[in-house]
Amino acid sequence: MRVLSGTQPSGQLHLGNYFGALQQYVALQERYSETLYFIADYHSMTSLRDAGERRRLTRDVALDYLACGLDPARAILFRQSDVPEVCELAWLLSTVTPMGLLERGHAYKDKVAQGVPSDHGLFAYPVLMAADILLYRSDLVPVGQDQKQHLEMARDMAQRFNHAYGAEVLKLPEPHILEGVSVVPGTDGRKMSKSYANTIAMFASPGEIKKAVMGIVTDSTPVEEPKDPAATVFQLWNLFASEDERRAMAGRARKGGLGYGEVKKDLLARLMAHFAPLRERRERYAARPGDVEQILAEGARRARAIGAPVLAEARDAAGLGPPGR
Ligand code: TRP
Repeated sequence: MRVLSGTQPSGQLHLGNYFGALQQYVALQERYSETLYFIADYHSMTSLRDAGERRRLTRDVALDYLACGLDPARAILFRQSDVPEVCELAWLLSTVTPMGLLERGHAYKDKVAQGVPSDHGLFAYPVLMAADILLYRSDLVPVGQDQKQHLEMARDMAQRFNHAYGAEVLKLPEPHILEGVSVVPGTDGRKMSKSYANTIAMFASPGEIKKAVMGIVTDSTPVEEPKDPAATVFQLWNLFASEDERRAMAGRARKGGLGYGEVKKDLLARLMAHFAPLRERRERYAARPGDVEQILAEGARRARAIGAPVLAEARDAAGLGPPGR
């Protein structure tokens, strides 16, 4: 079973990314024989024009994966753009992709509705994403709910390509929708998201983390009165607590006499303790940029060894290049 997922380089990793995705991705390396994770730097071009910033953010994603326990001896970690074959496959796919399919894309429609200037790259984003998935003949693609439609599009494109050229070249991937802890609330109670500026970035400086935790929005219920155990601060605290601890905390909340300040302080302590070893690992890698580059280069080599033959087959099926393979 081959598992693949991609992450856009888009800024500091936060608790929502970690519990919602990264932690779960990394856990899959234990369960499946082949796991591929790439940093979607090509995709980032649809929203970021600063070359230096792209390099910095790309390196940060690599560090985040390594910090969270990705083992480069098992999982394949690479930069999307280090396997440019994906762009060629994207072209082949684009010729079997109806305009209407892309026009119905939620992500595209949302961006346009937000007033993001639309260009061809943004419109064709799902085609490149399909190429990412199909180039490596991925069996399983773990993604959040928001990427489900993109996955369905990839299946659709694979089918259309195979049908157009009467060959079973491309493999239809199965989605693996991540759930459970996937909805981590932000400090204001809405979904944690960079665009809401409500994140807790666990590799930020201790001062910044403290500020974010202390800034979790709470109501003005006096200390002695009962609290709603489903309040944001408890939901966040629960991420770092065992089943038994959660039950005990909910009991204390309902009983009254528990101040939000106390919960925040304990949350901060637990959070810092939880991420201390990860932070340390991140710092170790950050101090050795050459090693990180080597991991990415080796990842790209392994990814390319999987992808290049698939592209060759797709080219041949489509009648590209010299005859007689
Ligand atoms: N679009 C994904 C996101 O924003 C990132 C991504 C790009 C991806 N290519 C992919 C995810 C292929 C899974 C498979 O989260």
